[in-house]
Amino acid sequence: MIIAIDGPAASGKSTVARALAARLGAHYLDTGAMYRAVALKALRSGVALDDRASLGALARDVNITFEHEGDSPVPTSVLLDGEDVTADIRTPAVDEAVSPVASAPEVRAAMVPVQHAAAAGPHDVVVEGRDIGTVVFPEAGVKVFLTASAEERARRRHSELSGRGVEVAAEAVRTGLERRDEADSTREAAPLVPAHDAVHVDTTGLAIDEVVEVIAGLVTEVR
Ligand code: DC
Repeated sequence: MIIAIDGPAASGKSTVARALAARLGAHYLDTGAMYRAVALKALRSGVALDDRASLGALARDVNITFEHEGDSPVPTSVLLDGEDVTADIRTPAVDEAVSPVASAPEVRAAMVPVQHAAAAGPHDVVVEGRDIGTVVFPEAGVKVFLTASAEERARRRHSELSGRGVEVAAEAVRTGLERRDEADSTREAAPLVPAHDAVHVDTTGLAIDEVVEVIAGLVTEVR
């Protein structure tokens, strides 16, 4: 079964999706990491972020893979053309570049088949992104749209960045998130909108375990 987890930046998707995958023994696919890897490659190659044709060519050419530690189904690293870029795709520069890159239909057209291939197989997969329940896997068995208040999301992202030694003012984190959500929600290609049949879960003030519990309950219901 595909379990689609969509929602705005810092709504808790990654933490929840990973914990859910571990709990269900399911695989996990982070599609945001794929768009981030393309954005990193665009920055490194000096491709203009509004040059959709070149971004598309770059996205069709790129090789993005996920590496697992031991036999864990939840990957620990992201490789871009064989290089471990796990930390490099989570910098403020990539945060800024990724929205314009992800809004290019040419880039999305290149990424969706890779996402389908990555999730293929007999196992359950928790897939996290913005358009998973609407575009990538509209037939997903469970669709969740995670939200959290703007304050909570900014606080989470700020503490995540500080934890990795990236010093950014809290206010800048909040305006950056808001700008990205606005861009992701209003773009023409696969915008961030809840699927009509998604279950909305507001994670503000909830512990990770509580959110995982709710979604695991939905999975049990449809089995
Ligand atoms: O989830 P994230 O913050 O790592 O996502 C990075 C960016 O990629 C975000 O601006 C939205 C975009 N994205 C997307 O357009 N479609 C997806 N399926 C996943 C992410």
